[in-house]
Amino acid sequence: MIAPAGWIATRAPAKLNLGLAVLGRRDDGYHDLATIFQTVALYDGLALRRAPQTILDGTDSVGAGECNLALVAIERLRARAGAGEGAEIRLTKAIPIAAGVGGASSDAAAALRTGRALLAPALAEPAVAERALGSGSDVPLFLRGGRALGTGRGDVLEALPPLAESWFVIVVPGVSIPRKTATLYASLSAADLGGGEAVFEQAERLRRGRGLDPGLLGNAFERALYGLRPELVELRGVIEHRGPPVVALTGAGPSHYAPMNDPEAASALAARLREELGRRAVVVEAAAVAGLPAVRG
Ligand code: C5P
Repeated sequence: MIAPAGWIATRAPAKLNLGLAVLGRRDDGYHDLATIFQTVALYDGLALRRAPQTILDGTDSVGAGECNLALVAIERLRARAGAGEGAEIRLTKAIPIAAGVGGASSDAAAALRTGRALLAPALAEPAVAERALGSGSDVPLFLRGGRALGTGRGDVLEALPPLAESWFVIVVPGVSIPRKTATLYASLSAADLGGGEAVFEQAERLRRGRGLDPGLLGNAFERALYGLRPELVELRGVIEHRGPPVVALTGAGPSHYAPMNDPEAASALAARLREELGRRAVVVEAAAVAGLPAVRG
């Protein structure tokens, strides 16, 4: 992406959770989790230029508004750097909203990366990273991208080796759950919590350069999500009926995905699901990606 004069720009990838365990509730009200994050080639575009005040223009109304994490991130960065000026943020959304694929957190991380270049070039990386966690639990992942084991709130990251090529078909159902993440965490019961054995076993496979084990992609939010939105059980059945090796849930949902071995098989599955699901879901194909898109301008 080439930024117009005066603008600095980057792209913000989506993520999938390749298995997710919730270990328990913490004293600070958050939960400890264990998950494997994987960023994928589905991107929002974000451009920034200096402005007297921080404002956000979305290409659509969704994603704009005061609680947008990109806006919050720029304001935190500006306060930390003592920068007099703010920034105009232009956000071009492609990542579905509140879907479990990290769009809002990724936009915040992209805002921090571009905002640092524009407003706070002298600010050291750790100071930027501190602002990241304050903006949302998944933001630290999007300051590095690629594949990582996440523990703590999801903010303690261990990079895992760059992947062999892999593709995913992502199914984003058109259901909305008010205050989704907080609601889903609050709906967990003791039976949904665990020690994260499957996630740690998967991480160990990946450290050794072995492929993803589709049998280790379980997600602690499944029971709670299907309890709140029973229609998603049927939607999962439709995907499973089409025969991918496995179907898994990402984040706190409601998106599901199927890991695929090659792009042709991914396209064929995506086309069949689009036909079958129609307006009930958006179906996207995306490859796994390593690292982060450059900041340009
Ligand atoms: O970090 P984020 O703002 O996305 O989290 C939204 C809400 O989800 C938190 O206020 C908290 O209730 C819950 N949460 C949690 N444990 C996490 C992440 C989020 O309990 N690791």
